[in-house]
Amino acid sequence: MIKDIVLFEIEEWAQQKLSDCEAGHDWWHIIRVRNNAKLIHKREGGDWNVILLAVLLHDIADTKFFDEVESLMLIDQKLQEYQIDQTTIDHVIKIIQNLSFSKQWTENSFSSLELQVVQDADRLDAIGAVGIARAFSYGGHKDRDFYNPDISPQEYRSQEEYRSSNSPTINHFYEKLLLLKDKMNTKTGSSMAKERHRFMERYLEQFFNEWGSNDEE
Ligand code: ADP
Ligand code: NI
Repeated sequence: MIKDIVLFEIEEWAQQKLSDCEAGHDWWHIIRVRNNAKLIHKREGGDWNVILLAVLLHDIADTKFFDEVESLMLIDQKLQEYQIDQTTIDHVIKIIQNLSFSKQWTENSFSSLELQVVQDADRLDAIGAVGIARAFSYGGHKDRDFYNPDISPQEYRSQEEYRSSNSPTINHFYEKLLLLKDKMNTKTGSSMAKERHRFMERYLEQFFNEWGSNDEE
């Protein structure tokens, strides 16, 4: 067990690091992912210390906002300072390195139950009503159109291509968000994803109804 005071200090550190991130990747994202992870862990098991630390620290090394190598070194140092055992630290770091959707194009040999739980918990926060809010928040932050009927969704071939894309936020639903339901790792995650997925489908249907025809009369 990690002492409460240690957890509290790690949380404070992570919260401070995320304070400049846009609303979809702020501390509330971490709190929601922790809640999802708790539910999944209850049914699927795994080492809760590893899961919790990975949840708290996963976005500090997000390549959208930070330098990954430098951040992973900082996390390693920080956890050593608190005398977390090295096996736990190494596992947490491996999870953080392999978590992101954008890592699907990188050679990747690591997997563990704990990674699967954290990844499902993080992905659940990317879909459903909250997922929709986060997508538009990120799109706005990047100054992207929310929809442009002249630009079709794309299939990316690399992390660089995915990250440098400027496609409208509605396209992101087709490029990522609607694909997540079938990429969930655990049974629990997969069943939690279903309702959120249906909600996004209903949302898009309404969106396109309201948008109407593109033909100019
Ligand atoms: P991961 O968290 O797996 O690294 P991403 O970095 O692709 O995944 O995105 C995390 C969240 O940021 C997404 O779920 C979405 O809410 C938002 N986001 C990322 N890229 C885009 C985009 N191109 N358009 C809209 N939202 C995005
Ligand atoms: Ni996240």
